[in-house]
Amino acid sequence: MMKTHIFKNNEAVATAFAEFLQKEIAQAEKINIALSGGSTPKVLFDILAKKYAAKIDWKKVHFYWGDERCVAPTDEESNYKMTDEKLLQHINIPPQNIHRVLGENDPTEEANRYGKLIEWNLFLKDGLPIFDLIILGMGSDGHTASIFPHEIELLNAAETCAVAVHPESGQRRITLTGNVINAAKQIHFLVTGISKTSVIKEIFSEKGNYKTYPASAIKNAEWWMDEGAGAGTL
Ligand code: 6PG
Repeated sequence: MMKTHIFKNNEAVATAFAEFLQKEIAQAEKINIALSGGSTPKVLFDILAKKYAAKIDWKKVHFYWGDERCVAPTDEESNYKMTDEKLLQHINIPPQNIHRVLGENDPTEEANRYGKLIEWNLFLKDGLPIFDLIILGMGSDGHTASIFPHEIELLNAAETCAVAVHPESGQRRITLTGNVINAAKQIHFLVTGISKTSVIKEIFSEKGNYKTYPASAIKNAEWWMDEGAGAGTL
């Protein structure tokens, strides 16, 4: 079942999700979270840094990334860089709790290393590492994490992480694969903007091209949307 939360705008989505996250962390002893890049997480990280720096016990939190671009951590394209600038520099989180993808390394070797690290650190069930919470975005082409429509087979890849290729730029990325995403205890999509309405409409009604959108294969997720994207659920 897909649960939806719809708010006025991007800022309101991020505000509500920050409040939700604070409660989840408060209840946990330790929480393994996979983060996403994208525009709504950017606002979310800002809000967490400004309003929750002192209200969350960051020692309990371990951050991983659901996907990362194969670039150096100083590159503007790096999801780690964005998170570091918006959030990590402003909170009291032990450095050993931050598990970034080494985007500067050889992609195949790094996908392998990062997958092994996740398998080592997380609880395994039926051979799959279990994240407590995964934050995902969705592109207007229906991609999620870095699983794009032209590489939809990554949904069922046997490895925890794989190398993906961005369809337009050819940029390589490291992504969690579909089975690991679907095995998480909680999955939350943060999706905003009218460029997403029609894809949301197809996914929620299971019509049109929905099967070609990797995001549609992520089950039991909660969808946090603004009115633009959320219009597709009506
Ligand atoms: C990335 C993301 C990606 C993103 C979507 C949506 O690193 O590119 O993890 O999957 O979430 O492209 O991005 P927007 O929220 O900016 O539309």
